Amino acid sequence: MEPMIQVRELVRDYKITRKREGVTGGLIDLVRPRKEILRAVDKVSFDIEPGELVGYIGANGAGKSTTIKMLTGILTPTSGEVLVGGLIPWKNRLQYTRNIGAVFGQRTQLWWDLAVVESFLLLKKIYEVDDATYQKQMGIFNELLAIGDFLHQPVRKLSLGQRMRCDLAAALLHQPRVLFLDEPTIGLDVVAKDNVRRFLKDIRENQGVTIILTTHDLGDIEQLCKRIIIIDQGVVHFDGLLADLRRRTGHRVRLTVELREKHSSVDLAKVTEGMPVAWEEGDGLLHTAEFNRSEASGAEVIKRLVNACKVSDLNLAEPPIEEVVAQIYREGGSSNQ
Ligand SMILES: Nc1ncnc2c1ncn2[C@@H]1O[C@H](COP(=O)(O)OP(=O)(O)OP(=O)(O)O)[C@@H](O)[C@H]1O
Ligand SMILES: [Mg+2]
Repeated sequence: MEPMIQVRELVRDYKITRKREGVTGGLIDLVRPRKEILRAVDKVSFDIEPGELVGYIGANGAGKSTTIKMLTGILTPTSGEVLVGGLIPWKNRLQYTRNIGAVFGQRTQLWWDLAVVESFLLLKKIYEVDDATYQKQMGIFNELLAIGDFLHQPVRKLSLGQRMRCDLAAALLHQPRVLFLDEPTIGLDVVAKDNVRRFLKDIRENQGVTIILTTHDLGDIEQLCKRIIIIDQGVVHFDGLLADLRRRTGHRVRLTVELREKHSSVDLAKVTEGMPVAWEEGDGLLHTAEFNRSEASGAEVIKRLVNACKVSDLNLAEPPIEEVVAQIYREGGSSNQ
């Protein structure tokens, strides 16, 4: 089977003007602006199979939105190739948009002053969706996103959560095979996030939609994505299974200990002397330490602590996914695959 999305050596440069300092600098800027090239996406390559749901993650400014904009055909790349369902996104725009859906969480794709249902009817016309498909899709959206309650409200009066649900529905009305989502849960409360996630799971499983999702919410990733691609400063640093990423760093554990009497972290370091256990600066009563299970036994660390101090509580946990990802960001280029 051909991959649904093929990206090869994708590059996007932006021309930016860098400001000079001070008044004189400002004057020089006026006459001779200092132009520089910023490479936002730097030779990114990946394949995505039909029906996959892949998380595309990275810190602010990493190049996620720029990538998504090229994949949706909004931006033309500086160089490189993209094929989505056999089509080049920035060529044959009309034909292409019939095959894909996109949601940009930061701004709506809907008409601000129109009632939701009127927006949908317009999209139905634009995409030439037949009546039966329209009814069927609206039925699904009603059931999974409960948009029926506010179909007759103008988009500008919707809450963020309601708007996002409508945007998702709008993006899928014409039954595209591929869906691009740029921060679809941004600003949503816990319940609304859960609704969106459940919806995405459902349409992937039942309609076989291929999905790329960018997010800063690692809950989205944990609940939705088997595979993630991590990008940093335009470069892909990891492309693989979330489970493998966890395994790679999974031997690290974090110990939290609550004491009945104050001790400094230096005291605790003495207790675990000879063991590679890193104590963080605590407040005297609450302390945390990190170590690698393959280098230090948790049982031994705990035994020594209990013998040396009055311990009121203890907890040994794997690092949260945030830290696993942050570690990849920190490792930077050295960790490529
Ligand atoms: N239109 C533009 N002109 C100039 N530079 C831009 C433009 N759009 C983005 N950039 C720059 O390109 C880099 C990548 O931006 P991009 O928006 O793709 O990041 P991102 O990963 O989506 O970040 P975020 O998580 O904050 O949304 C950043 O350094 C950004 O400042
Ligand atoms: Mg972005």
